[in-house]
Amino acid sequence: MPHPVTQPAPDRSPRRATAADAPALVRLRAVMIAEMGGDPGGPDAPWRAAAQTWFAQRAQDGAAFAAFVVDDPALGLVSVAVGVCDRHAPGPTEPAGVRGRIFNVVTDPRRRRRGHARACMRALREWFEHETGARVVDLVATDDAVGLYRSLGFATPPDPLLRLRLDGPDAGG
Ligand SMILES: CC(C)(COP(=O)(O)OP(=O)(O)OC[C@H]1O[C@@H](n2cnc3c(N)ncnc32)[C@H](O)[C@@H]1OP(=O)(O)O)[C@@H](O)C(=O)NCCC(=O)NCCS
Repeated sequence: MPHPVTQPAPDRSPRRATAADAPALVRLRAVMIAEMGGDPGGPDAPWRAAAQTWFAQRAQDGAAFAAFVVDDPALGLVSVAVGVCDRHAPGPTEPAGVRGRIFNVVTDPRRRRRGHARACMRALREWFEHETGARVVDLVATDDAVGLYRSLGFATPPDPLLRLRLDGPDAGG
């Protein structure tokens, strides 16, 4: 009787996204926007093409942009976390003048609670810590994600985040 063949576990560790992943990043971004209460619009919504171009271009800027993603054999790209480096005025605690920012953290609803977002976040942290000069990394958390972020060391900053929304020159009225 032949011995059973043990299949190696599929590799679900995060990899760095490339420009070719831009359409999938937009697909997941729409999922995130909808779950955060926004309206992502239909497949032809103008922001999608703009975001696809943006992701494809930024993915080529390895020094200031990194997206870590997890692939699934059946569904393709199912999880992502994106980090960028913003130029900031240097100061004593940030001598390189690099401020990290994380956004677009989302996992396909069919593949949640499997550790994908945590793995992508850990990969991003490694990148920020070892490949950028960032010493501060900011993000805005949703209720679903705040526990994940706190478990990774993110804490509420001492100063409040304030936001001003502008209508721009095209606003009616
Ligand atoms: C938040 C989100 C990215 C988590 O993705 P995920 O791949 O399921 O996350 P993980 O499996 O790595 O879970 C990591 C931890 O996050 C927390 N977490 C994940 N989903 C949660 C939920 N629905 N409610 C509360 N905590 C949750 C848990 O602490 C979890 O650890 P545990 O499974 O050991 O308890 C996913 O639920 C999502 O895409 N939500 C919609 C978009 C969103 O809110 N994005 C965050 C923007 S800031």
